[in-house]
Amino acid sequence: MKHFIDLTDLKSEEVQDLVSLAVKLKAELRSGGNRPILKGKTLAMVFQKPSLRTRTSFEVGMVQLGGYALSLSPAEVKMGERESPADVARVLSGYADGIMARVIAHDTVLELAEYGSIPVINGLSDFNHPVQTMADLLTIHENFGRLEGINLTYVGDGNNVARSLMFGAMHTGMNFTIASPAGYQLTEDDFDAADRLKFGSATIQTMLDPDRAVAEADVVYTDVWTSMGQEEEREKRLQVFPPYQINDTLLDKAKSETIAMHCLPAHRGEEISAAVADGNRAVIFQQAENRMHAQKAILARLMSDN
Ligand code: CP
Ligand code: NVA
Repeated sequence: MKHFIDLTDLKSEEVQDLVSLAVKLKAELRSGGNRPILKGKTLAMVFQKPSLRTRTSFEVGMVQLGGYALSLSPAEVKMGERESPADVARVLSGYADGIMARVIAHDTVLELAEYGSIPVINGLSDFNHPVQTMADLLTIHENFGRLEGINLTYVGDGNNVARSLMFGAMHTGMNFTIASPAGYQLTEDDFDAADRLKFGSATIQTMLDPDRAVAEADVVYTDVWTSMGQEEEREKRLQVFPPYQINDTLLDKAKSETIAMHCLPAHRGEEISAAVADGNRAVIFQQAENRMHAQKAILARLMSDN
């Protein structure tokens, strides 16, 4: 693994190894601290969009592994405006040992990887959000003790988070079901790409009906209806998506032990009700914490000499 940009670039064994390493690093941290396997290493983080979890979890994670991370805001780099992604990558390659980038267009993170000489990690693009998926896999593993055979249902917009989640589910042998409104579904190309990743008994189903989608679910997952950069579509989306809200009425159609997931930030009253987000079936803050543990595994595999 040279970069961490898209889960379709990884083998299932690599994805599963990252989950196992995240479990180990989390336990090691809790039993006194991590070994400084990234001592002397620097991660340069470049943002074209806002972030709470991505910025903080990577920065704290680097420090816990003995390294250092610096954060470059959209206004200071103006990547693509003041300077091309290719030149940003070539410059940062002279200072740092890795780049983590949150970009608007997926091509930008690909350009960073093409022109830099250090590993590049995708911290969200318009196409996908693979570091979020790794935290989600860790969270599901912690809740069920396994991933293979778990029924994971995503309800809502067929967006960047949904796409990566489907790829991660295929790599780990889960049964992935997605319910999205017409016009907001993942594409045939996405489903074809996911088919090629299937490990073990993994399956995929796509449908319009959220009630049917959650019936057998162990996990019900959602994300915002309007992603960053789509703000002008917000009013239109608010007309379309209400039947896809994760609320108690929908979860009552699933199993009694079904858990609710959300990558955050959440809009209570839109894609998730306040009662579910703040209730005992939600594992959303466990997911948020797991961003750090899962990403430390990625950093270790890409940047550690040990
Ligand atoms: N889930 C997630 O990526 O959060 P941030 O946008 O706050 O980084
Ligand atoms: N789909 C959301 C995820 C935010 C973490 C967005 O792209 O804005």
